[in-house]
Amino acid sequence: MNIVLGVSGGIAAYKAPELVRRLQDLGAAVRVILTPNAARFVSPLSLAAVSHHGVITDQWGDPAKGGVDHIEMARWAELLLIAPATANVIAKLAVGIADDALTTYSVAHRTAIMVAPAMNWSMLQHATVVQNLATLRSRGVEIIDPESGYLAEGEEGEGRLAAIPAIVERVKMHRGTRDLEGKRVLVTAGPTREAIDPVRYLSNRSSGRMGYAIADAARRRGATVTLVSGPTSLEVPPGVDITRIDTAKEMLEAVMAKAASHQIVIKAAAVADFAPETVADRKIKKPADRGTIELSLRKNPDILASLATVHPRPFIVAFAAETDSVEKNAREKLERKGADLIVANDVSDTTIGFDSDENEVLILGRDGSSVRVERSPKLVIANRILDAVVARLG
Ligand SMILES: Cc1cc2nc3c(=O)[nH]c(=O)nc-3n(C[C@H](O)[C@H](O)[C@H](O)COP(=O)(O)O)c2cc1C
Repeated sequence: MNIVLGVSGGIAAYKAPELVRRLQDLGAAVRVILTPNAARFVSPLSLAAVSHHGVITDQWGDPAKGGVDHIEMARWAELLLIAPATANVIAKLAVGIADDALTTYSVAHRTAIMVAPAMNWSMLQHATVVQNLATLRSRGVEIIDPESGYLAEGEEGEGRLAAIPAIVERVKMHRGTRDLEGKRVLVTAGPTREAIDPVRYLSNRSSGRMGYAIADAARRRGATVTLVSGPTSLEVPPGVDITRIDTAKEMLEAVMAKAASHQIVIKAAAVADFAPETVADRKIKKPADRGTIELSLRKNPDILASLATVHPRPFIVAFAAETDSVEKNAREKLERKGADLIVANDVSDTTIGFDSDENEVLILGRDGSSVRVERSPKLVIANRILDAVVARLG
């Protein structure tokens, strides 16, 4: 695969040589174009050395060589990946400004474009950046969303360049396995909310990111995907059909109504095990005479157990969030619930899993198999889970 990597002038440009190496691991040939400002953050010489090719920083090229580099390159390239993409480059792409080597090339480029923004959270939320990214999306440009975390300015927030393995995974997916073509996949995601009174509820820390990543990956691999989602703030992946629910009971109803028409059901939602026995129809007042109140909980329906009764029975992937004896407890759950695969994660490590961009899981099969996926972006985990499903469907 021939990739043109465009690098623009943000702090994260220092990650570009590593990105080139990881793209080469996929068997890709990579040629690099830097904006003049990017060359302040990362050395063109390093990029020339790792890419085994001259790096373009100046659109006027070398008059002695003749030819127009950007047109020749556009014939060669199968993908333009801009990482990191500054707010400035994103704006230029949105309106077609071509005033340096990278933006001129971008206008000449004829195949797919992926853009990985990286900037401070306040820039990312600016109306122009939001609008320019929407414009690029509407034109079919794939945006590789930035991550949340520690930013170079010493703040926490969303805007950090997506992790290199996540970018590489997107490129790999672009090259495209369509091994789920013709399959219907039902994915559940997010938390549920169990009402206590009209304004309060019980819920959990699930962000929904794992389930949304699976839905996105399955769709890109050719599946028709239905997502049944609890409340999240995430964007629905393009091409995915969504049903929104609040409670475990609603989740059960939605899943049971759809399961028989899907060959694969992946239950990534964190469904509440308990709900308040009664829901007060008025806001519960603070008791004046006591420091405590009692809340009586009843068990919620077991969606996994209900799924095992569906005809025709879909291939079922369950999740187990454990805090101790992860493999043992997950394997017991796999047997007890009659799932085909179980994805176990250790939720005692608060830096991964719930509400995080990364996870580390064990994928356990009924056949006794066990695959550990080391700490990786959730999109990578999603694809490894789908690999395990595809391998078992034959
Ligand atoms: C130290 C420093 C770090 C910067 N980091 C970023 C960044 O991460 N993202 C961004 O959009 N702009 C960042 N900027 C601003 C860009 O460098 C500036 O908008 C520049 O014009 C971008 O040029 P280019 O898009 O042509 O590479 C940074 C500026 C400085 C001085």
